[in-house]
Amino acid sequence: MAGRELRFAAYAPRPDARPDARPDPVSAVLAEATEEDVPVLGELQARARGGAAGDWADSIRRALGRRQSLVVTAKIAGEAVGYANAEFLPEHPVDRAPAGYYLTGVTVDPDWRRRGIATLLTRRRMDWIRERDAAVWCFVSARNGASLDLHRDLGFRRERPGASFQGVEFAGGEGWLLRADPPRA
Ligand SMILES: CC(C)(COP(=O)(O)OP(=O)(O)OC[C@H]1O[C@@H](n2cnc3c(N)ncnc32)[C@H](O)[C@@H]1OP(=O)(O)O)[C@@H](O)C(=O)NCCC(=O)NCCS
Repeated sequence: MAGRELRFAAYAPRPDARPDARPDPVSAVLAEATEEDVPVLGELQARARGGAAGDWADSIRRALGRRQSLVVTAKIAGEAVGYANAEFLPEHPVDRAPAGYYLTGVTVDPDWRRRGIATLLTRRRMDWIRERDAAVWCFVSARNGASLDLHRDLGFRRERPGASFQGVEFAGGEGWLLRADPPRA
C-alpha cells in the first residue's frame, strides 16, 4: 500500500493564493472517452499511478461498457492529459456506502497538474450526475490531501470516515466518504 501512496500528488497547498504565483490555467477539451482512447488512457494511468497499462486499459474498457457510467477525457492539442470516471453504484453490502452516483476516479498527467484540469473534469462529471440525481458522492484516502482539497473547493463535505467505501480500501487504512449537494438557489 505504501507504494500506491507515493502515487498521490505531493500535498502542496498554496497559502498565499496569489494569482500571479499560479501557472497559467489551460483550456483542455473535454469529451466522453471512446474505445479508441482506451490504450492511451491505460498508459497515462500506469505512468501516473503505477501498475500495468494493459490492466488499467481493461478496467477502463469495462467502465465504458457499463450502463450509468461516464468516462471523460481531457485533451490538449489532441493529446490526453487526464481522464475521470463517474458511475451509479448500489448500496455496498459490506461497508454500507449508500447507493448513488459516485465520482470514481480522476487522474491528471503529472506534467499538467495544478492548471485546473481535474477541476474541469470534476465539474463535468458533477453536471452529468446532477442531470440524474441531486447528491454527488465520492470517497478519497485520508492521506490524499490534494484530492481532499480539490473536492472541498468544489463543494464536497465530509460525510464520514471509514476503512472502505464501495469495497475500496485505502492506503493508510482510512478514507472519507464525501458528498456534494446542489448549491442553494
Ligand atoms: C489530484 C489530482 C487529480 C489533481 O489534478 P490537478 O489537475 O492538478 O488539479 P487542479 O489543478 O484542478 O487543482 C484544483 C485544486 O485542488 C487542490 N490541489 C490539487 N493538487 C494539489 C496538491 N498537489 N497539493 C495541494 N492541493 C492540491 C488545490 O486546492 C487546487 O487549487 P489551486 O491549484 O488553486 O491551489 C492529480 O494530482 C492526480 O492525478 N493525482 C494522482 C491521482 C489521484 O490522487 N486522484 C484522486 C483520487 S480520488
